[in-house]
Amino acid sequence: MWRFVISLLVIFNFTLAQKFEELAKTPPMGWNSWNKFGCDINEQIIKEIADAMVKNGMKKAGYEYIVIDDCWQIDRDEDGNILADPDRFPSGMKSLGDYIHRKGLKFGIYSDAGTMTCQRRPGSRGYEFQDARTYAAWGVDYLKYDWCYHGTQNSEASYTLMRDALYKAGRPIVLSICEWGTTKPWLWAKDIGHLWRTTEDIINCFDCINYWGGLGVLQIIDQSAEIGDYSGPGGWNDPDMLEIGNGVLTLSEERVHFSMWAMLSAPLIAGNDLRDMSKETIEILTNRDVIAIDQDALGISAIRWMKYGDLEIWFKPLTDNNYAFCIINRSNQPISINQDLKTKIKKKYFIDDSYTVRDLWTHKNIGTTKENIVATIPGHDVLLLKLVSNKK
Ligand code: GLA
Repeated sequence: MWRFVISLLVIFNFTLAQKFEELAKTPPMGWNSWNKFGCDINEQIIKEIADAMVKNGMKKAGYEYIVIDDCWQIDRDEDGNILADPDRFPSGMKSLGDYIHRKGLKFGIYSDAGTMTCQRRPGSRGYEFQDARTYAAWGVDYLKYDWCYHGTQNSEASYTLMRDALYKAGRPIVLSICEWGTTKPWLWAKDIGHLWRTTEDIINCFDCINYWGGLGVLQIIDQSAEIGDYSGPGGWNDPDMLEIGNGVLTLSEERVHFSMWAMLSAPLIAGNDLRDMSKETIEILTNRDVIAIDQDALGISAIRWMKYGDLEIWFKPLTDNNYAFCIINRSNQPISINQDLKTKIKKKYFIDDSYTVRDLWTHKNIGTTKENIVATIPGHDVLLLKLVSNKK
């Protein structure tokens, strides 16, 4: 009898683990409140953002999670239950989750593995199982779990604890590990979370480093160069959320940002005000060809193939024997290229002369691999190419 019960439990845990594993076969896509709104959030804004995601074509393009970052929580009640700020979220989180679900979207929330969140709201330390049950009851589908005020806690143990709490609560919830790459989560997080931040926070800037550690777009790309092999279906390197549409990056810089996040198979989590976007911002965020590079089923993160001064060429193998190349001009002056793309990379990828070369920003075929690619790339811009095999 006991054997039977134990095998049932094993099967149950196995199917549950499988359910969790299947949550992020491709990098998660969605929106998060932090980059634009910081703590200035409320249920009205979140509902309007969900409405906008449906209306502006983002949902159709694949975005699905609406994630409420720090500052939604205010306290715990006498039984230890986490409480949402009643002034900002008067209808409560369950009702907000229902609203998001009615739009056909998914509901994300934020907490912290330490005693407090980064904005000094209650963290989940000591309340992991209780919080996971609460999230499951609210219909949460995604948890971003931060690393402030962790004291002497061990990162792997702390994130494993929350993973186990989520398993126990029984609702499949994506676990987004946010420990900023400090203890190299790409080495240990694959069976714990679905994505893990690899760097400090992104700042809204193309090429800069902040004194407290925030990184610009180029600096994050540089930090991503050596760890691509650790990312793949089910568990993704997360170079942080997008700053597209937040009014600082130029359109060409936004193209570099979006192209490279796609090349890196990064989660695509928009961080702007979706209710108020220019046509150009919408076009960038919903560029299907670029999103397809990000969401390619192989899930291989790009390799930095060449670097000559301010010019870099990144390369990403895709399904159907296709490839993507992203040529970045890091300088603010135009650079002309005359590049042969026929090559052999890492002894396993062979590019012969049988490919059509397509520009994923102009949506035009610009040649084949029989001849060199000749182009001028404006300052702070990219040429994002897909090489489509003609040998199917
Ligand atoms: C940390 C995270 C950010 C954001 C803030 C909220 O800095 O890395 O992404 O969640 O906390 O306080």
